[in-house]
Amino acid sequence: MTDRYAVIGHPIAHSKSPRIHAAFAAETGQDLSYEALLAPLDDFAGTWRRFVAAGGRGANVTVPFKEEAWRLCDVRSPRAEQAGAVNTLSVDADGRVRGDNTDGVGLVRDIADNAGWPLVGRRVLLLGAGGAARGVVGPLLAAGAGEVLIANRTADKAVALAALFGSAGAAPLPVSGLALAALAESAAAMPCDVIINATSASLQGERLGLADGWFHGATAVYDMMYGAETPFLAWAREAGLQQRRDGLGMLVEQAAEAFFIWRQVRPRTDAVMAALRANLP
Ligand code: ATR
Repeated sequence: MTDRYAVIGHPIAHSKSPRIHAAFAAETGQDLSYEALLAPLDDFAGTWRRFVAAGGRGANVTVPFKEEAWRLCDVRSPRAEQAGAVNTLSVDADGRVRGDNTDGVGLVRDIADNAGWPLVGRRVLLLGAGGAARGVVGPLLAAGAGEVLIANRTADKAVALAALFGSAGAAPLPVSGLALAALAESAAAMPCDVIINATSASLQGERLGLADGWFHGATAVYDMMYGAETPFLAWAREAGLQQRRDGLGMLVEQAAEAFFIWRQVRPRTDAVMAALRANLP
């Protein structure tokens, strides 16, 4: 029988996940179906349970249900635990619900493997301290980042997120939090090697500019948003930064990791990425 999977969110109509997973299934020869399920805002858990009762084996979870998905799991992976959010659900042989989070590893693979930007020992500036940012701090550190600076409009949230990763010893913490507004000043700036935008500022068409001093000639700039040039990547281009990348690769890589969790087969991602890119507006 064909195994059923789905992506659950609200809204969901424009999700690219069904297309990505169908391509992975075709490429790896796996017999599965993958559908988009719209959950009512007040009934994510019911939507998931009905899907499982109808034979669903697993699901991806997207906005705004990742924290709720975290809560309904019987078992969570360490990275999901750390992220406080789940984007990949599976039902195991005993009927237990297992939760994982593949967003961070998807970002790291896109940066380190696809873009080829080194992370080991590098200073990373992460903009934002919401759900998207929280899921990537651990994977960035696991990939060898030397230091992660978290900058957020609400500075307290950046400091609190950094504290989750701080070590208790006397050594300087590799993760620290600061106010986004501080980035407008050069005075106390520290040049960063990789800058990642995990805020939703682009959604509101808002620009996040950084003062000189926070970057250098070879700084690489990543925006988790994708599509037509985002305001943040437009800023980076105007600042003369050559290495710029949007989040389309992260989307495909997090899907590939979810596919691997479900099927124990790792799909290729390059052709899917190119096909999606060709269809972007
Ligand atoms: P997500 O799951 O996408 O991270 P979120 O948890 O609501 O969504 O977090 C949104 C992030 O974008 C936060 O870091 C938010 O900053 P605050 O914590 O200060 O709200 C940031 N953000 C949203 N709009 C922004 C804007 N116009 N300028 C700067 N930061 C913004």
